[in-house]
Amino acid sequence: AALGRDFFERSLGPVLQCYLTRKSWWAPTTVSDWWEEYVYLRGRGPLMVNSNYYAMDFLYVTPTPLQAARAGNVVHAVLLYRRLLNREQIKPLMIQGTLPMCSAQYERMFNTTRVPGVEADSLQHRRDSRHIAVFHAGRFFRVGLYHGGRLLGPRELQAQFQRILDDPVPPAPGEETLAALTEPWARARQTYFGSAGTGSLRAVEQAAFSSRWTPRSRAAGTDRAGRGIDYAKALLHGQCHDRWFDKSFTLIVFRNGKIGLNAEHSWADAPIVGHLWEYTLATDIFQLGYSVDGHCKGELDPSIPPPQKLQWEIPEECRRVIQGSLWAAQALADDIDFHTFAFKDFGKGLIKKCRTSPDSFIQLALQLAHFRDKGKFCLTYEAAMTRLFREGRTETVRSCSIESCNFVRAMMDSTQSRLALFRVAAAKHQTLYRRAMMGAGIDRHLFCLYVVSKYLGVDSPFLREVLSEPWGLSTSQTPVQQLELFDLKNHPDYISAGGGFGPVDDNGYGVSYIIIGEDLIMFHVSCKFSGTETLAQGLGRAVRPAREWDCLSLLPA
Ligand SMILES: *[C@@H]1O[C@H](CO)[C@@H](O)[C@H](O)[C@H]1NC(C)=O
Repeated sequence: AALGRDFFERSLGPVLQCYLTRKSWWAPTTVSDWWEEYVYLRGRGPLMVNSNYYAMDFLYVTPTPLQAARAGNVVHAVLLYRRLLNREQIKPLMIQGTLPMCSAQYERMFNTTRVPGVEADSLQHRRDSRHIAVFHAGRFFRVGLYHGGRLLGPRELQAQFQRILDDPVPPAPGEETLAALTEPWARARQTYFGSAGTGSLRAVEQAAFSSRWTPRSRAAGTDRAGRGIDYAKALLHGQCHDRWFDKSFTLIVFRNGKIGLNAEHSWADAPIVGHLWEYTLATDIFQLGYSVDGHCKGELDPSIPPPQKLQWEIPEECRRVIQGSLWAAQALADDIDFHTFAFKDFGKGLIKKCRTSPDSFIQLALQLAHFRDKGKFCLTYEAAMTRLFREGRTETVRSCSIESCNFVRAMMDSTQSRLALFRVAAAKHQTLYRRAMMGAGIDRHLFCLYVVSKYLGVDSPFLREVLSEPWGLSTSQTPVQQLELFDLKNHPDYISAGGGFGPVDDNGYGVSYIIIGEDLIMFHVSCKFSGTETLAQGLGRAVRPAREWDCLSLLPA
């Protein structure tokens, strides 16, 4: 490896860099087009668990127990957001109130689906999409969103969804599990549905977004401790065939009125979906609201035609392919372990009093927790946004640094000066984070050099090695972006419990967290049961003993 690195530094690296510099002269983005293509669209593993991620409903509360009513309000709220977006009325996010973040990722939020290909998938976006696809009890329905040139109101949508719930028609053979088609999907789609897809498939793919309803009352929701393993798993993979993982996003409405969302990753990163989700939740409860008996508000127009059941003729042979996919998907889903919990001992308020960035604090806490859990350090991935640049997506912050290791070791051995080491480690993390945001990280750069080397047909042992190192800890903060929409003082429970994602490495952890208000941090920890060194509960338990973090001793005297 040392030899490879030497060669890379002296001769290959500068050549690759030269090509990359040239690309930067003509292309709108040096990284993002390749990132989308090679990391997402050419990825050949199943999207479920490996790529898609989820967002949760309000912490603790459910505004109505009526499934159709919740769906009515929430779908209407999502459509209000789409209208704002189409009218270009969504303001760009500003950093420190002055620097705008690039909004390009919003463009493919709606009217979009991923279409499978044998070697690479593609994203298909339509200028026009006036219906949604709804899946309930194994059947697909097409629900029109407009009537007489106007958007259906919440009460009208509720009535349409109630019609679906009341419809006893059984699924066509193969329809119920159709969405489980994964790896042979591209080929099966061509063989059995024609290259453009049959009418019904087209109705699903061309929908504005899709919506799924879990008929069984699973334990959807979190308890007072924020625990909700079944809820997280229901959102991330469900029963493997009841979410359309190719759709830009799928709204999930549970029988008890809880909701959630599953998002495809190639078209945008989580903060984009988070922006839509915050708007949707806030509009649902604070703007639209419900009548006292839990129904949507507004009038009904009886002349609206009912939702249309989609017709399928799925050949026997194709059904066998679906069954094979389903078994593989179920094995993957069954292997996923989740641990979600609300950390309430303290939150952003106290951390700020320690004059520390909350994100740096949490990252160091995770380093400590990981070391306590596994007795070793590992390469750590933290996603930072690079939307200060045109079409920017993310850069990696390598949160496990020499400084963070020194701090963790000091915490394990009480004789050293923890506070000083903590300050150094936190400052280092902040520097790394800032550099990543400013485009001065290393991971996307190395990735691009690797792509150039592939184009040139040269093999670089150095690049191969750095790019294949496993991320034992993959982390991401879900930022709260529109605090003005919520009223945390009077309704502290009315804010999303955040979201999460599956483990990136077979032996590693995925950790997503959201800082809620001043006193609460919600964690979503995932890993694989088959991993020999991981247990989601284990990492969770290591995060929790807050007193041991010595946060209080970090307060200025
Ligand atoms: C999506 O479809 C709607 C309804 O047909 C249309 O008004 C809107 O412009 C489309 N959005 C985009 C971004 O193309």
